[in-house]
Amino acid sequence: MRLLTLTTILLAFESGALCEPLKARAAPIDQLVGYAAGTTGGGTGAGTTVTSCSALTAAAKMGGVIKISGILNGCGIIELVDNTSILGVGANSGLSDGGFQIRRVSNVILRNLKLATAPSKKDLIDIDKSTKIWVDHCDLSSKGLVGGKDDYDGLLDAKHGSDQITVSWNKFHDHWKGSLIGHSDNNAGEDRSKLHVTYHHNEFRNVNSRLPSVRFGSAHIYSSCYMDGPTSGINSRMGAQVLVEDTSFTNVQLAIVTNLDSDEEGFANNRNNLFTNSPTRITKTGSYSPPYSYSLDSASDVCSIVSSKAGVGVVTF
Ligand SMILES: *[C@@H]1O[C@H](CO)[C@@H](O)[C@H](O)[C@H]1NC(C)=O
Repeated sequence: MRLLTLTTILLAFESGALCEPLKARAAPIDQLVGYAAGTTGGGTGAGTTVTSCSALTAAAKMGGVIKISGILNGCGIIELVDNTSILGVGANSGLSDGGFQIRRVSNVILRNLKLATAPSKKDLIDIDKSTKIWVDHCDLSSKGLVGGKDDYDGLLDAKHGSDQITVSWNKFHDHWKGSLIGHSDNNAGEDRSKLHVTYHHNEFRNVNSRLPSVRFGSAHIYSSCYMDGPTSGINSRMGAQVLVEDTSFTNVQLAIVTNLDSDEEGFANNRNNLFTNSPTRITKTGSYSPPYSYSLDSASDVCSIVSSKAGVGVVTF
């Protein structure tokens, strides 16, 4: 009788019924979690493999599953259409001097891509008026904190009422402007009640600011590792809601800030984070929590986990 009861409790715990989110249990590395749930991209077919910019540009117009083999140099900005997956082959595939524009589309997956250095003034990944976007296991960078901060734009920006986005297991590094969610204090009409983004198991290293910067929207940031941010980290503004949990910050100025550079403050909910030489400035505390279940890794473990399990060459195609 007693044994049976114990088994029942254990089963309930395993299924997450008693305690959500589950803690002290490694999060799966190959699963879509969060606001982009249901994103299928180009589906499950073998798709087409491209090894040149012209082949990539042509394939991108058709959508479906597109695999990039090798680093394609100088492709410029590739425009994507609905129902597309762009997957890197092996551990060293992607773009240099190129980027992706995801504009007025839905259902796009980008995985295992090494994207280094956008064209001048451009984003590496630019999401506008688009929904259901999953960016996973990519490596996003430029040349570091050299030159002017506007020589390139963001590593991954989402604007103009975009929504249902998950950004997981990526390495963001060596760049000025990380990830801008909502581009203007004056865009409430289009952005309020949109711009829901999940960031988990990402590594941010040597990026100056916007990790992310969120206006109006909601960002759930968990089990991530931040290192060496010289200006600001998570910037919640214009009534945005952020929940930051089980995340480690080392040498990040204003690791979480709610009153920087906008007309109105944002809200931040700060839970189980580790701050090492990383001050915060939270002027408005939020109570937002996301509507889905998820598995946390603890802040003390997460930097070693993402060091080996985020970025390219982990999930391969
Ligand atoms: C994308 O996929 C959905 C679901 O299968 C389908 O309804 C829609 O027509 C597709 N869009 C395009 C542009 O093919």
